Amino acid sequence: MVVPIDVELVAQDARKASKKGDLIIVVDAVRATTSIITSLANGAKSVTPVQSLKEALQLHKEYPDYVLAGERNGVKPEGFDLDNSPLSLAKEIVKGKNLIMSTTNGTKALVQSKGSKWVTLGAFLNADAVAKKSVEIASDSKVGISFVLAGEEDHFALEDFICAGAIIERLPKNAVQLSDKALGALLAFKGAKQNLQENICKSKHAQDLIKIGFSKDIEFACQLNLYNVVPFYKNGVIQISD
Ligand code: MLT
Repeated sequence: MVVPIDVELVAQDARKASKKGDLIIVVDAVRATTSIITSLANGAKSVTPVQSLKEALQLHKEYPDYVLAGERNGVKPEGFDLDNSPLSLAKEIVKGKNLIMSTTNGTKALVQSKGSKWVTLGAFLNADAVAKKSVEIASDSKVGISFVLAGEEDHFALEDFICAGAIIERLPKNAVQLSDKALGALLAFKGAKQNLQENICKSKHAQDLIKIGFSKDIEFACQLNLYNVVPFYKNGVIQISD
């Protein structure tokens, strides 16, 4: 079967993708999915994404040895151990640890995707690996692939759209059928890729992060295929699949 590829532009549309029975690739390239993938690549055992700060703090009370990470307005919330910077999630801090994460849009997109049988995470960092694994599962299981972009407060976010395009470029052309939104993402990536970091920096969210001192995070997030890691979100927990 040719695998249909579609893109939901904001987190709140995750349910549409789950209802179709699609495999979901959640993308919040700057920064939530980049940070979660990085923590797992650095040896974290698991990441539990939660939507609200209240839930995150409550869960941390139950599991005080878990590392509590995340952001609101880009910075570490009160009572948290770490912020949402991929650079904060270094090996010596996360190796062997379980994490609880709550971010403004990324963890929301993940939690809202949980109705789907397969929910994976995409970023520039794992574009090749996530494209390969997703198309393999979708072909075998005869389902489509939907990207769920985290967006920003239920608005379209350019950096997520371009990142979806980077992953779409790596899908085997003869095995997939792109919707107009998927084709748009691919064309956006093709137009942006020569100067990827510079183009990602033009997005509103990147500009907001640069203003508060996180330009290094964007540089980090723009590295294509740094990791060969494909995490799956299952039963409330994100882990690298076997
Ligand atoms: C989010 O989940 O909204 C983003 O990851 C925010 C951020 O860049 O920290």
